[in-house]
Amino acid sequence: MFSSEIYLERRKELRKSMASGVILILGNDEAPINYAGNTYRFRQDSNFNYFFGLNLPALAGIIDLEEGTDCLYGDEQQLDDIIWSGELPSLASLASKAGIGSVYPSRELKNSLMMAIRKGRKVHFLPPYRSQNKIKLSYLLGLMPDELSNYASQALIKVVVALRSTKQACEIEELDAAAVTGYKMHCAAMQLCKPGVYEYNIAGFIEGIAAAAGGSTSFPIILSQQSQILHNHDHSEVLKEGALMITDAGAENASGYASDFTRTVPVGGKFSQKQADIYNIVLAANNQAIKMAKPGVRYCEVHRASARIIAEGLKNVGLMKGDVDEAVASGAHALFFPHGLGHMMGLDVHDMEDLGENYVGYDDETTRSNQFGTAYLRFGRRLQPSFVLTVEPGIYFIPALIHHWESEKINSSFINFAKLHEYFDFGGIRIEDDILITHNSCRLLGKRRIPVTISEVEAEMAKAEY
Ligand code: GLY
Ligand code: MN
Repeated sequence: MFSSEIYLERRKELRKSMASGVILILGNDEAPINYAGNTYRFRQDSNFNYFFGLNLPALAGIIDLEEGTDCLYGDEQQLDDIIWSGELPSLASLASKAGIGSVYPSRELKNSLMMAIRKGRKVHFLPPYRSQNKIKLSYLLGLMPDELSNYASQALIKVVVALRSTKQACEIEELDAAAVTGYKMHCAAMQLCKPGVYEYNIAGFIEGIAAAAGGSTSFPIILSQQSQILHNHDHSEVLKEGALMITDAGAENASGYASDFTRTVPVGGKFSQKQADIYNIVLAANNQAIKMAKPGVRYCEVHRASARIIAEGLKNVGLMKGDVDEAVASGAHALFFPHGLGHMMGLDVHDMEDLGENYVGYDDETTRSNQFGTAYLRFGRRLQPSFVLTVEPGIYFIPALIHHWESEKINSSFINFAKLHEYFDFGGIRIEDDILITHNSCRLLGKRRIPVTISEVEAEMAKAEY
């Protein structure tokens, strides 16, 4: 947790930009796995964490805009809680760490909200994403659970996005630390990537590195030789010499801040020429994006520049044809690069995705493309200093997608389908780094870049530190 001044300041900024009403921010509850007493690792709601900092279940915060008060709602521990889970400081002393002087039992929350509503005051709340909080909000506000998102406060969403988009120095320190843990996870994965080893052996090991750093992974690890599947959480296969293993994984600190990196490496430690040719195209797209990312540049333009490098590279190896700019304009590159270049990152690995991707990644100036592939770009608007993003271009050979485009003759003037049949068992390659936008360019998060060139990756894979 940061100092109380940080939370006081954040709530002050929130007040400045909100006209009137009551802001309700719910923390998360414990989530049962298979019975109530057996719960998943507790994960606080990121918005509650941002404004109130307390990493405990079943709390709610109220920011009253007219009265100028901030209150915490929660329940003191009972004797049984103390016996089974250990004694915690009182809620009043916890609240004071977040700069809050008023604490009330949670049973009083509904009444104070009802009083506000009866007076015609607006209750601003954020869109809930967990069923428990949907039920809670439904009870508190008298709305049906499936109506809640219609009533979520757009004004509040916009202010929260504006505040959380620009990372403070204390947050950047945490993000750098999460990146350092991500570095260790990826170096370990490279070194352990040997024929005969099971994917789950490596996934489990690197998950342990994240836990040993005091937190956890920032999302379920993607580690697989089915590297053409964008989000594949199956780790059941044994590694086979010559296959490509993709590892998309990052750490979440104890404080909740994330990292998110991807490397794709050859099982056995040596890239074939065919793999190296595709790898170097993805790396060039990644490097170009990092070179371009700076304040004032629109991220959709950075995405387009990476797509252009991918199309040009694929033309050079004979998989695409025709004019490169026309190919990119018509979306032909998306057969190979069917996702966006990256997303914001912070307290969430896809930062603030619960608030709505378009609020985070788009604005009046930059609206989301509806072209296949680019439509998945989570963040397209102009970059500003202290934004944190991922840069994650990829090239994938997805047989079902190739068959579809070939049979429907989609972008057939730009694709060499005959040659593509030689790549059906290739898999895919993604290379992902995390960047902080500085005042005039950007820098990588962490202490050093995870091995990324072919020679760096092969040298790392030859080590035996794990
Ligand atoms: N690293 C997973 C994702 O960005 O979707
Ligand atoms: Mn990512």
